[in-house]
Amino acid sequence: MNDIYTFPKDFIWGTATASYQIEGAWNEDGRGPSVWDTFAHTEGKIDDNTTGDKTCDHYHRFKEDVALMKKMGLKNYRLSLSWSRILPEGKGGVNQKGLDFYNDLIDELLAAGITPFITLFHWDLPQALQDAGGWANRETAYLYRDYAEIVTKALGDRVKNWMTHNEPWVHTMCGHFFGNHAPGLTDLKKALQTAHHMLLAHGLAIPVIRKNSKGCRVGLVNNLEWIEPASSSERDKAAAARHDGAFNRWYLDPLFFGSYPQDMMEWYGEDVPQIEAGDMKIISTPMDFLGVNFYTRRIMAHDSQGNFLNCRQVRYPFMRKSDYEEWENNAEGLYRLLIRLKEDYNSPELMITENGTPLQDKIENGEVHDPDRIDYLYRHMGAAWQAIADGVDLKGYFVWSFLDNFEWCLGFTKRFGLVYTDYESGKRIVKDSGRWYEKVLKTNSISL
Ligand code: FCB
Repeated sequence: MNDIYTFPKDFIWGTATASYQIEGAWNEDGRGPSVWDTFAHTEGKIDDNTTGDKTCDHYHRFKEDVALMKKMGLKNYRLSLSWSRILPEGKGGVNQKGLDFYNDLIDELLAAGITPFITLFHWDLPQALQDAGGWANRETAYLYRDYAEIVTKALGDRVKNWMTHNEPWVHTMCGHFFGNHAPGLTDLKKALQTAHHMLLAHGLAIPVIRKNSKGCRVGLVNNLEWIEPASSSERDKAAAARHDGAFNRWYLDPLFFGSYPQDMMEWYGEDVPQIEAGDMKIISTPMDFLGVNFYTRRIMAHDSQGNFLNCRQVRYPFMRKSDYEEWENNAEGLYRLLIRLKEDYNSPELMITENGTPLQDKIENGEVHDPDRIDYLYRHMGAAWQAIADGVDLKGYFVWSFLDNFEWCLGFTKRFGLVYTDYESGKRIVKDSGRWYEKVLKTNSISL
C-alpha cells in the first residue's frame, strides 16, 4: 500500500510527556512532595517497585532532550508542570528555583523553534494539599486557580497554549475509587466530588489564564474511548451506555452542556457530588479546544456481578491486542469517536493530545526496531485524516510519548516513546518510529 495522506497546511504535529513521568529530581532545588512521590514510595503500589525519583532525569538533561527534539524536526511539545516544584506546599511561597526550571525549559524550546503546550495538572497534586483533603476538599479548586495565576503570570508571555487538566477520569477514578493510582483511595463519593472540583477548578482558571497570557488558547484534556455494546440486547446496550456515561459523558457534558448526564446522576444515587449554585456555569465556561487522549475501543456487556456499573469488558478473538492488557488497538474507534464528538457536542475544535502504544522494545546493535508502533501510529493518524476529511475540526495530533518514561502504577514495564530511554546510563536512542515520524513532520503526510 503506497497511499499518501496529506494533512491540512497548519496541522499541529507534536509529542507529549508529563512532569512526574520524566523529570526525576524529586527532592531537589526545593521541590515539595506530590501524591505520586508518596504513592510510589509506598511498598507494593508500583508493579515493578520503582519510583519516579530519577526516571528520565529530564530535570538535568532537558537541554539535551530539547536538542534531540530539534534534531528530529519536532515543532510542538506538550509537557506538564509539577505544581509542588513551583509551590512546595501547594500554596503560599513560590519556589523560585522550581519556576526557573520551567522558565529555562521554555526558553530552550522557543530557541529551538518548538512551541510549548502546557498542562497545568497531570495528577501530581502537592502532598500538602492532599493532607488537607485533596481534590475532595472544595478549597483545592481555588488553590488551583491561584497556582494557575502564578504560573501564567510567569510564563504567559511566551506560552500561548494551555491545558488545565490531563484526564480527570483517571485521577478521580483510579486515584480515588479503584485505588491503583495516587492518592490510592477507594471511595466513590469522594471520587465524584474530586471530579466535580477538578472541573470547577478548570472553569475558575480559564479567565485567569486568558488574562495573563494574551491571545492564548486554552482547553482541557480528556481520555475518551469508543464504546460498543457486546450484543444488540437491551441489557448490553444499557451497560455500554453506562460505561460511556461514567467514562466519557461525565467529563464532557458538564463542559459543553453545563450539566451532568441525568442517567448517571440516577445511577450514582447518593454518591453524586455536592454541587453549589453557579458551579455548572463556571465549569461550562467556553474553552478554545478539547484535548482528546485516545488509546482504545472498549466493548461492554451487562454483568450484575461485574463492576460498579454492572458492566464487564468483553474481548473477542479477532481483536488486535496491545501490550497494555485491557486495551485493543483499534484505529477505527478513534475515527468513530471523533465523528461522535462532532455530532454530539456541536463540532468542537479538537486536538488529539495523546495517542500511542507500548511495546517490548529492545536495543539491537544500537538500534530499536518497532514496526508495530509505526503501524499503530500510521493507522491512528489515518483515522484522524479521515475524520478531518469528514468535517471534524481537528487541529493537531501529539504522539504519546517523546521518550520512554515512568508509566504510573506499571513503573518501567511499558515503553511508549519515539525515543528509547536507557534508564541506567540515561542514554536516548531514537527508535525507528521516531525516524518515521520525522518523515511525517517533514512531508505533513503519512505513508507506510
Ligand atoms: C495516559 C496518561 C499518560 C500516559 C498514557 C500512556 O492515560 O495521560 O500520562 O500514562 O496514558
